[in-house]
Amino acid sequence: MELDALPRYPLLEGPTPFQPLQRLGRETGHPRLFIKRDDAMPLGLGGNKLRSLEYWLGAAFAAGADTLVVAGHTASNQCRLTAAAAAKSGLGCVILHNADRPARIEGNLRLSHLFGAEISYLGPVGESERRQAAEARVEELRREGRKPYLVGDPVLGAAGYVHAGMELLDQARARGVVLRHILLPGSMGPTEAGFLYGLVRGGFDGEAHLVSVEYGVAELAERVSRIFAGLELLLGAADRPVGSIARFTDRFLGPGYGIPGPDAVAAIRQFAETEALLLEQTYTAKPAAALLSMLADGSIAPDEPACLLHTGGTASLFEDDFYNAVLVRGD
Ligand SMILES: Cc1ncc(COP(=O)(O)O)c(C=O)c1O
Repeated sequence: MELDALPRYPLLEGPTPFQPLQRLGRETGHPRLFIKRDDAMPLGLGGNKLRSLEYWLGAAFAAGADTLVVAGHTASNQCRLTAAAAAKSGLGCVILHNADRPARIEGNLRLSHLFGAEISYLGPVGESERRQAAEARVEELRREGRKPYLVGDPVLGAAGYVHAGMELLDQARARGVVLRHILLPGSMGPTEAGFLYGLVRGGFDGEAHLVSVEYGVAELAERVSRIFAGLELLLGAADRPVGSIARFTDRFLGPGYGIPGPDAVAAIRQFAETEALLLEQTYTAKPAAALLSMLADGSIAPDEPACLLHTGGTASLFEDDFYNAVLVRGD
């Protein structure tokens, strides 16, 4: 099947910016640095999951749904953007958080409230219990006469990111740039698999560095390969295997998921102070730290064009505990 044949509900209104990092380039002695701004989208503070939501909403409308159901942690960007997309498209939104209700409603959760989502808390349960609870809620909504759609199919979510890979290569070509290195966060896999598929389809023959923010290299690679294979079943073979461009590293994971090490905190500061770009601790600071490290140790040479994929997460900047404890200078 062709990508264009899949039902898609438009949320983006065109390509996201592709920009040079001029001051950072001067500071690091690498004049050919770029950023792809998937944090700069016109809905709900933007972020990678909006590209997936175009396809999840497409499927929801095709199935006649009237309500989106989504599950995740209270800090989930996916939940916030699902609530935003539901508000924009006139669907209901039911969110299940695998956490207790926090004392303060801030960050992503604050925005999900503002977008009018029906929010409930499952307590601190794991991933599989959360999935079961979401499926049970879908059944319950059906019994109540509603038409729910469960958001999160990984292959459909990946389909949204195929565009991002091809779009980035088109934008680089239009500037006469042939990218050699692209860095992005490695997590559950849909964004990465779709992006890699788009890069392969678009003729990229440099290195795409997946910087793990969650799992060890083996698990990350396995997740990405599985979803990539699912995409190939859906959209056809990708010309070249994913391994021809994908490089996996967990060297920048630091203390673990959601917890930045000193290099990630330094990256947050450097990007803000030299480029006024906003990174957050969970997804974007670690690939940025990897970029800075690879520039410093020569793994990326000064004449090799390199690009960081900024996947968003801006609302996390307004979670007070982390920023007051770690980033606000004591002056
Ligand atoms: C800002 C941001 N970047 C990256 C990711 C990782 O995407 P994926 O779950 O598709 O691996 C997420 C996931 O929620 C995210 O919110």
